[in-house]
Amino acid sequence: MIEIQSVSHRIGQAQILTDVSLRLERGGVIALAGPNGAGKSTLLSLIARLQPLQQGQIRVDDMQLGQCDDRALARKLAILPQQVNASSRLTVRDLVGFGRYPHHRGRPTAGDRARVEAALAQFDLGPLADRQLETLSGGQRQRAFVAMSYVQDTDFLLLDEPLNNLDLAAARSLMAQLRQLADDQGRTVVIVLHDINYATAYADRIVVLKGGRVVADGAPAETVTAAMLEQVFGTAAPVHSVGGRPVVLV
Ligand SMILES: Nc1ncnc2c1ncn2[C@@H]1O[C@H](COP(=O)(O)OP(=O)(O)OP(=O)(O)O)[C@@H](O)[C@H]1O
Ligand SMILES: [Mg+2]
Repeated sequence: MIEIQSVSHRIGQAQILTDVSLRLERGGVIALAGPNGAGKSTLLSLIARLQPLQQGQIRVDDMQLGQCDDRALARKLAILPQQVNASSRLTVRDLVGFGRYPHHRGRPTAGDRARVEAALAQFDLGPLADRQLETLSGGQRQRAFVAMSYVQDTDFLLLDEPLNNLDLAAARSLMAQLRQLADDQGRTVVIVLHDINYATAYADRIVVLKGGRVVADGAPAETVTAAMLEQVFGTAAPVHSVGGRPVVLV
């Protein structure tokens, strides 16, 4: 479980997050939604300790952030940030291989290598494995970064807009794999999605942030309503129910 208690965050004079409290139970897909600048990436980066907590507390299972060993946290929680910087000369296989680092700390075993090959296959990266990142298309590169997060085999997986640049098949395939991780292995996936229809199709729960606060939280059918879209995004998008789940007409 990830427990976020009264987290607030400022950058300079700007209040980025205000009193955010959330309990993210183990085993499920939780979508984070909300307008640009709402604070979604900031919240993920605090959970993953990419920046220090200023106010409030975050616990990941029995680990209190700021008091626990960051290396132990890295074996429990992986993050794919929205903007990733990696040397573009790296090959796809090397990048994905880095994902195993918290497990082997520089001495990959045959098991680590096998996991990398399996992840390459799972994300259709086999034919691209020896290519340098700079030679890939945007979606191919994104798939490589997703595979690098996935191969870490952590209980908690935080993904910030992983569908960026992915085509329809790659996006559906990734969401189905995340769903499977949650259902079959009890993993917890927290995923920032702008396309609400992916959230309603694949997430158990949607947390909506606006202006650094949680403004809606619940099952897709409870949260995704025309009234919420109007209030949060200021746009009048109709919501239909298809097979029991809300679908936003864009
Ligand atoms: N280093 C920084 N300096 C100043 N402001 C920042 C900094 N980082 C983030 N912010 C501001 O914090 C707010 C929240 O940013 P954040 O990246 O968390 O939003 P987001 O919900 O992820 O948005 P998006 O959907 O566009 O990715 C924004 O207004 C952003 O401009
Ligand atoms: Mg963001």
